[in-house]
Amino acid sequence: MTTCWTWGYDGYDPEREPLVEALCTLANGRFATRGSAPECTAGTAHYPGTYLAGCYDRLTSVVAGERVENEDLVNLPNWTLLRYRCRPDDGPAGDWLTPDATELRHHDVRLDLRAGVLTRRLFFEDARGRGLRVSHMRLVHMRDPGLAAQYTLFRAYGWSGSVEVLSVLDGTVTNAGVERYRHLDGRHLTDHRTGFESDGVAWISCRTADPGIRIAMAVRTVTRPAGPAREESTTAGTVQTYHLPIVPHRSAMVVKTLALHTSMDWPAADPLSAATDVIARAPSFPRLLSAHKAAWQRVWEQGELRVPGEVGRILRLHMFHLLQTLSPHTADLDVGVPARGLHGEAYRGHVFWDELFVLPYLDLHFPEVARALLMYRHRRLPAAREAARLAGHQGAMFPWQSASSGREETQALHLNPRSGRWLPDHSHLQRHVGSAVAYNVWRYAQATGDRGFLHAAGAEILLEVARYWSGAATFDPALGRYRIRGVMGPDEYHDAYPDAANPGIDDNAYTNATAAWVLARGLDLLGELPAARRSELSEQLSLNDGELARWEAVSRRLYVPFHQGVVSQFEGYGDLAELDWESYRARYGDIRRLDRILEAEGDTVNRYQASKQADTLMMGYLFGPEELYGLFARLGYRLDEEVWRATVSYYLRRTSHGSTLSGLVHGWVLARQKGADAWRYCEETLLADVADVQGGTTGEGIHLGAMAGTIDLVERGLTGLETGPEGLRVAPVPLAEIPRFAYTLCCGRHRGVRLRRLPGRLAIRVPASPEGPLTVVLPGDRKVTVPAGHERWFRL
Ligand code: BGC
Repeated sequence: MTTCWTWGYDGYDPEREPLVEALCTLANGRFATRGSAPECTAGTAHYPGTYLAGCYDRLTSVVAGERVENEDLVNLPNWTLLRYRCRPDDGPAGDWLTPDATELRHHDVRLDLRAGVLTRRLFFEDARGRGLRVSHMRLVHMRDPGLAAQYTLFRAYGWSGSVEVLSVLDGTVTNAGVERYRHLDGRHLTDHRTGFESDGVAWISCRTADPGIRIAMAVRTVTRPAGPAREESTTAGTVQTYHLPIVPHRSAMVVKTLALHTSMDWPAADPLSAATDVIARAPSFPRLLSAHKAAWQRVWEQGELRVPGEVGRILRLHMFHLLQTLSPHTADLDVGVPARGLHGEAYRGHVFWDELFVLPYLDLHFPEVARALLMYRHRRLPAAREAARLAGHQGAMFPWQSASSGREETQALHLNPRSGRWLPDHSHLQRHVGSAVAYNVWRYAQATGDRGFLHAAGAEILLEVARYWSGAATFDPALGRYRIRGVMGPDEYHDAYPDAANPGIDDNAYTNATAAWVLARGLDLLGELPAARRSELSEQLSLNDGELARWEAVSRRLYVPFHQGVVSQFEGYGDLAELDWESYRARYGDIRRLDRILEAEGDTVNRYQASKQADTLMMGYLFGPEELYGLFARLGYRLDEEVWRATVSYYLRRTSHGSTLSGLVHGWVLARQKGADAWRYCEETLLADVADVQGGTTGEGIHLGAMAGTIDLVERGLTGLETGPEGLRVAPVPLAEIPRFAYTLCCGRHRGVRLRRLPGRLAIRVPASPEGPLTVVLPGDRKVTVPAGHERWFRL
């Protein structure tokens, strides 16, 4: 049965398995295990994967005659593998059973979102009517982030004998989860060693090729009835074989408990000794389960958004994946926001600008986690400075794709699966990622009031990004304005002008407007810093008045192109050819990846007014109308509701939504302007992963930005919520499909503030605390206060 707290799949469909595995991944912020069938190793339908946050490895491969380096989130040894077969007293041993066996009669998968437990139930029956029921339960421990466990129960029907069980620790795994990366070397694990300890403990230790992270996994296998095991080491793994006597109505059980330790952990310890010590003391499955459930309950209390109905159920799944990718444990780690979660190998576990869609939720619910994610960027500030220096610039140039070191990890070549051609990848020109990092710093500080962070690490990030923009902008005397040239906007389709010799486009409106915003905030920040810190930073960064005067000038005179009364996505966008959208839709059906379609036809999307995803419209996602119009006014442009509406409808007609982030931004922008199609885009984003709308990509990892964004769309988008020094500002907009919802948030030093939305009404409850009353600013700048320990309702 599927309820609002469960997510399930009935029956077995090998083609659906990659999706099931990704959406049934279990994690605790530190590591994740895909929801793969324990019986199976990697193949077309199955792909067991265990990934440790921040554990990347670099390998060099040769593709299309070129040597390319790639850093990947490493697939760790498979600890879940459990093979079994029946040995009836009255006949020979049966075949090894898997969901692909012809004897399979029943199969279902249930993910209990409240408890963080995955259950797979199978029933096999052979030609002679001998049945075996198998139930697996798995958890990745939310309280102790070094542990995971898998409990398997066997029950015989109509026969007696034994079940032969192989409990395997498989270190032969490689990174092979994404078809289009299979040309690349995926053998990241080396120097395998294996062994056994007393009490059914097997272990494996290995290291990544470069930079040599040492990894140890110790697995304790306990069976009931208890019995001796035959223990063998294989090339890169261990096998423990058990013969469990079984009779009808009496079940047999196997529990595998995992301890995972690596040389990335602190305090530093030998990973193998740590793993074997921990596993020797690890509690029994029932005790692990109850502590795990209690930890999840606390996570839900802090993180839940309640929305009734099916929308609420999907949102809960999104929250589940967000909360287990970036859990409270993340606050202790040096990791960024992996665009595809810890759920698969797409985009190699890299960190893009997607934190822009994730941090707002964390700011409101788990500010410590948001801060840790910003510190990941801060630790990589030296690498960003070096990248800027090498490019001939000042300040910090954050990479479009980041992983362990903070250097640029964007691939040099990418494969168009439609044409089979390897093409140069210029997406590293998306310099706007730096503004996303700076924006997140500022918004985090606004939402939480964490001046300590803003004035220390936050200021260093923000000022260095501002400085980069100031230097990257060049003055064009003919225009009388500053320009930023040779970049790419969030729309990844346009990486060059048609027939241009060099990549990059000029004056991307989103890049320029956000750069101007960062420069202005940099100046604001310098203005608010305590004198001592300001002079310390000025000295450290060698900031002088001349440079600040330039920041001021650039922030007011950056060029933003317009055409036909709308903001141009970039200079010359309006001169590009119009695409015959209907004919492409008719010919190809799904045209989300128009770039690949056109390239395969020998054409290029660079020639057309066609965008992959929200680019100019991103401005309406980041900024409320007043702030956006004010930003343009500061730049000396008139942007008002009329121009903005015209801009929105212009790009709506010219966007293929080749990224799951696109529907989210369009849904947000339309909902805020009470546009007719808002729900269509919101719904598309809600379904992005659960219905795999991008066609086969979810199995390679969830789309974390879109998942988090849907939650934030309800929490901030539909309420117009802003938390800042003045308190809580709300400007709700109705969305008929989500008329009611409730959640608990942090607002500055107030924790546990409860917001409830009903049609035409909104309630705010402030918990009893020494923080005193909370100021709420309602539409029309109406200020009210809600005393601690009280709830107030407002008519809208
Ligand atoms: C999108 C980017 C995004 C990346 C990772 C791409 O398809 O175009 O905006 O950052 O996926 O999610």
